[in-house]
Amino acid sequence: MELNNLTFLITGGAGFIGSNFIHYLLRKYSQIKVINLDKLTYAGNLENLKSVKDDPRYRFVKGDIRDAKLVDKIMEKVDVVVHFAAETHVDRSIMEPAAFVTTNVVGTQVLLAAALRHKIKRFHHISTDEVFGSLPLNPKLRFNEKTPLRPNSPYSASKAGADLLVRAYFKTYGLPVTVTNTSNNYGPYQFPEKLIPLAITNLLEGKKVPVYGRGINVRDWLWVEDHCRGIELVLQKGKVGETYCLGGPEDMINNLEVVKRILRIMGKDEESIELVKDRPGHDLRYAIDSTKAEKELGYQPEVHLDEGLERTVEWYKENRDWWQKIKSGKYKSYYERQYGKK
Ligand code: NAD
Ligand code: TYD
Repeated sequence: MELNNLTFLITGGAGFIGSNFIHYLLRKYSQIKVINLDKLTYAGNLENLKSVKDDPRYRFVKGDIRDAKLVDKIMEKVDVVVHFAAETHVDRSIMEPAAFVTTNVVGTQVLLAAALRHKIKRFHHISTDEVFGSLPLNPKLRFNEKTPLRPNSPYSASKAGADLLVRAYFKTYGLPVTVTNTSNNYGPYQFPEKLIPLAITNLLEGKKVPVYGRGINVRDWLWVEDHCRGIELVLQKGKVGETYCLGGPEDMINNLEVVKRILRIMGKDEESIELVKDRPGHDLRYAIDSTKAEKELGYQPEVHLDEGLERTVEWYKENRDWWQKIKSGKYKSYYERQYGKK
């Protein structure tokens, strides 16, 4: 599919990956139109899109993906949906799971129904590797497109529910869908509740970094712009009805090692690590086998973790206003609830 001249509905475009994707599209395609539908929950931030807010190709609509009337109206003008909007933080899903079900499952169904009604050209659903559950610490084992869904947290269960509805809309109604299941993203504009931005901003504030359990859990880290390129490739060359797993360039780096690398970049010692109570149901390991996307689409993640962490640390150093505003607001009560009073 040729992307220029199309009108995109980006849901959740004021969040971390959605805003990076909007910047990416507007940078690359001169004739594109982008509608960003976002509820602006605690995680949505229009500061992420300050530099494009007056771009004639871009329009922001504040609204909820669960609002069927609004969604139906917006969908009239849309060619392609890229659906990012979701409640995304595992720890919050353990505290209060309800919004995860209504936004991630019900909200996705509302979008699918409107997309079908208006016969859009493509519905691309952004999902996560967390729907596949957890792997042992064996580098030979990885998730791929055939791995069964075995979600363990309310977050991943709600994303799995959404993935299944997307599949059902393809199989039952022939809606032209594609899905990507992606590993942990990191980079600019990530809300500082997730491990990497939490670690960097805590260190910039002179605080310790809370590491769950013994820090042995492993994630598959993906630079956010590599993810954006992967989505673009799926839109251009992906087959309708197919799922693509998009992972990062390396594997088997545990959380303690990730934090130690950040400490090294920031010139801090290991005194700044604090081992804290483990997350309930904490998945041990995620790892993605991207072979299908590599072979069929030419997908290749380019930014290795060391380089990506350097860039991310630099971004948070240069954008203190962005995260200090977040951390001085409601975030404080979340932080105390999650980590205890400090
Ligand atoms: P985020 O939490 O930074 O942003 C989510 C955005 O969705 C926010 O702008 C929020 O305001 C918006 N939103 C939430 N509920 C809404 C609703 N009911 N109606 C409209 N907008 C709503 O999330 P992110 O990290 O950018 O993740 C984006 C997508 O990518 C999600 O679907 C997530 O499951 C998926 N994903 C994320 C990662 C990751 O590492 N961050 C990895 C794989 C997949
Ligand atoms: P997170 O960024 O929340 O992403 P996810 O749970 O979706 O993978 O967490 C990444 C890893 O870091 C995960 O194994 C949990 C761990 N973690 C900590 O050790 N301390 C923290 O304060 C946070 C937020 C996460």
